[in-house]
Parts: sequence; C-alpha cells; structure tokens
Amino acid sequence: MSMMSKTDDPVKNFIDSNKQRFLDELFDLIRIPSISADSQYKKEVRKAAEYLKEKILDAGADKAGVYDTAGHPILFAEKMANPSLPTILVYGHYDVQPADPVELWETPPFEPTIRNEKIYARGACDDKGQVYMHVKAFETMMQTSTLACNVKFILEGEEEIGSNNLEIFIKEHKDMLAADVVLISDTDILSNDTPSITTGLRGLSYLEVEVTGPNRDLHSGMYGGAVANPINVLCKMLASLKDENNRITIPGFYDKVLQYSDDKRAKFAKAPFNIEKYKKILDIKEVDGEKGFSTIERVGIRPSLDVNGIWGGYMGEGAKTVLPSKAHAKISMRLVPNQKNEEITALFTKHFESIAPDTVKVKVRPHHGGEAAVTPIDSIAYKAASEAFFEGWGKYPIPTMEGGSIPIVSLFDKILGLNTILFGFGLKEDAIHSPNESYGLFNFFKGIETIVLFYRHFARLSK
Ligand code: BES
Ligand code: MN
Ligand code: MN
Repeated sequence: MSMMSKTDDPVKNFIDSNKQRFLDELFDLIRIPSISADSQYKKEVRKAAEYLKEKILDAGADKAGVYDTAGHPILFAEKMANPSLPTILVYGHYDVQPADPVELWETPPFEPTIRNEKIYARGACDDKGQVYMHVKAFETMMQTSTLACNVKFILEGEEEIGSNNLEIFIKEHKDMLAADVVLISDTDILSNDTPSITTGLRGLSYLEVEVTGPNRDLHSGMYGGAVANPINVLCKMLASLKDENNRITIPGFYDKVLQYSDDKRAKFAKAPFNIEKYKKILDIKEVDGEKGFSTIERVGIRPSLDVNGIWGGYMGEGAKTVLPSKAHAKISMRLVPNQKNEEITALFTKHFESIAPDTVKVKVRPHHGGEAAVTPIDSIAYKAASEAFFEGWGKYPIPTMEGGSIPIVSLFDKILGLNTILFGFGLKEDAIHSPNESYGLFNFFKGIETIVLFYRHFARLSK
C-alpha cells in the first residue's frame, strides 16, 4: 500500500496502489519513437502497436490483433463481457508527431521526465498518455470486477498523417467494430478547475504548392530584376489569399460554411476565456483573425488558412547569391461543418492556378484531409460523460468546440453510424506538437478514474 489513504472505493484504491506501475508502463510506451510521418521510424510504429497489444491482453482482453495495412498497422482488441451489455469502442492513436526542433526540448523527447507534476515527452498527451488511461481503466475494471460495458479498442498508427488506411479498415470490418458509442481521449479540457467536453472539431484540407520560375537556379546579380523570382511570387500569391479583414479570398470558400445563430454565438461567448492570459502564454501583443469574430469563434466555428512551411533557394550557412528556380509551401485549411475537404481542395487549386502570373508555373499537390465533426449533446453517451465528470470532478462539464481535427470522427458516424464522445483530458499548455509536450499526472490518473465512471454511467443510462 502506498502513502495514500485507503478509501472505501475499490476503483480508487486499485488506481492508487498501482500508480507507479501505470507510469512505468506508459513511459515504456513513450520511449518507442513511433513517428508516423518519417519512414525511418516505421518499425517503431509497429513496436508501439505490439506493446499496446500485450498490455491490453495482460489487462484481460479476450483477443487482440495487430492488422497490417498499406501503411502503419492497426490494433484491434476486445473484451465481450456479456452480449446484453452496451459496447464501447475506444479509439486512439499511438503514432506521434516528429520531435523537431529537437534542440528546443529541455529533456530528450523520447525520454519521459517528470517535472512540476507533469510528464514531459513527445506523445505524453497526444496521444499515448491519453490512450494509456483507457488501457489502465480497462485493467482497473477487470481487477475490481466493475466492467459494466463490453469494450473494443481500435488504435491506429497514422492519425498524425491523415488516417487514410483506417478509413479502409473500418469499411472492411463493420461487424467487428459494431458498438454503441465511440469514446476518444485525444482533446483538451478548459482547465483542471473547469472540465469540458469537446463537441466539435474542424475538418482539414492539407496541400503543398510548387512555384517554378526559370529552369535552373540563376546568379542573382546577372538575372536579378529581370526574371521573376519564384519565392517572391509565391509570397505575393500567399499574401493575397486573405483580404484586409482576414477573410479568405478563394472564390466559393465560405459558400457552405455553417452559420451559427446569434443565440448560439451568445452561448459561446459565455465560455470562460481569458484573452489576456492567452496572449501572455503565447507572448504576443495582439491576436489576429477574421474580422467580426471572437478568438473562441475563430478557432471553434470559423475556417482558417495557414502556411505550415515555406522553402526554396539557399538555406545553408552564410550567403549564396542565387535567384532560385523553385519555391514551395505547405498549406493547411481548417474547415467547419458543411465544407467538404475535397471541394475546398479543388477550389484552392483552381484559384491558386488562376492567380499565378505568366512568369511562373504552379503545381498544387493535395495531401490528406477530413471533414469537420459535431457531436450531439442530447445523447445517452453525452449524459454519461457529463455525469462522470460531475461525480469525479464535482462540476458538470462545459461543451466546447475545438479547432483541431480528428478526421476519423466524421467517418465513425458516416460508416458505422456511431456517435463519438470526445473525452479528452489534455490542457492547452500541454503543448502538443510542440517542443516540451507534457501531460499532467493529475490528468492521467483522474482521467483513468473518470473513464471508469463513464462506463458505469453509460451502462446505467443505457438500460
Ligand atoms: N489530438 C489531435 C487533435 C486535437 C488536439 C483536437 C487538441 C482538439 C484538441 C490530433 O492528434 C491531431 O493533431 N490531429 C491533426 C489532424 C491530422 C489529419 C494530421 C491536426 O489537427 O492537425
Ligand atoms: Mn491526437
Ligand atoms: Mn496530434
């Protein structure tokens, strides 16, 4: 028994007395650098899947399998306790974003370290720490004989690169995935004092552009001023994609955007949000965005366009006088309900080609994308999630809309007809995708407890 005082709740007692082991196991998972975007780490992504498979089997699953795909593997496991109980399909991802820029990490990205009551590591929050809460919640329920629902796990290794093979897998395994609700921990809460449930995610259209000027790099003195420089041209084209009100200028871009009533917008405005703190954390003097909308709205209900990377010409040490032949940029557009990512990609392509001057040629290459998702707040599952927070945190959660994307959510709905509960326990300051990503110990352990409560309430309310 640890120093913790014993309660009369076997679930809490089990979690309390196994804290160190839960953490040790999570740390072993985090140490596997399962970076899906980089083919050098292909074996590591599989290793993470195999590791989770063993842990889920150890926890008491009836079966678990790692399925090959055209890309990274998918892990499926299940525990069918009793066919009369409702079934929860837990989704998560064990792939992580690259750790770059590595030099900005205070401790190595794949060597988890605890500081200020937080785990620092790539994947600590997104999504290994959050996935592992589900594995340990499952173990806890098995060990305390409190498993109130059947459970299926579908964990993938390609979330951070678009989930392309998961879509195919879901279409091919509809029966195996049959469930009553999808439960995902891969989002944030407002703060540890203000629990919340994400009820909307944005969609995504991600693409890459290439602008070509002369057929070879040129001497910037011999040709500078006489031949169009593709980097200069690209910058001008990119700058023209937003007007003075920060509205995106692509014709038709806003045509299908879901408009929210003043009533709904007023509700949004009530969500606790401190703009001064927001600016301070980011060390910026002012925020920026579409005129006429608040910061929460700009992220939650309005689409956006951002350059994610831009390159070309000489980028090495010192100076090289060159007028480059090519310039490139990677661009993401975050989409909102009713915008179809394929349509938006087509609109972008047509527009980008049309604004290119005759001095250059342009190519637009689509990457991945996905549709926005909105999850209902009047379902049994939402009620169960809400009650779980109330019981565990003493407060009912606030429904929020987030700006990030989990493209598979809209497909669970479309292909399997399932609602999703976005039951994430991260915080904005966890810095996912950034150097020094973290996940609070409180959030990890409280998350496990709250997941167990969800199962209990979902079973009760499903009767
Ligand atoms: N977990 C995030 C999504 C997220 C984080 C949503 C926080 C809401 C709040 C997920 O792993 C992610 O990063 N998704 C990608 C999508 C993708 C297709 C690469 C994203 O949003 O950029
Ligand atoms: Mn994630
Ligand atoms: Mn992510």
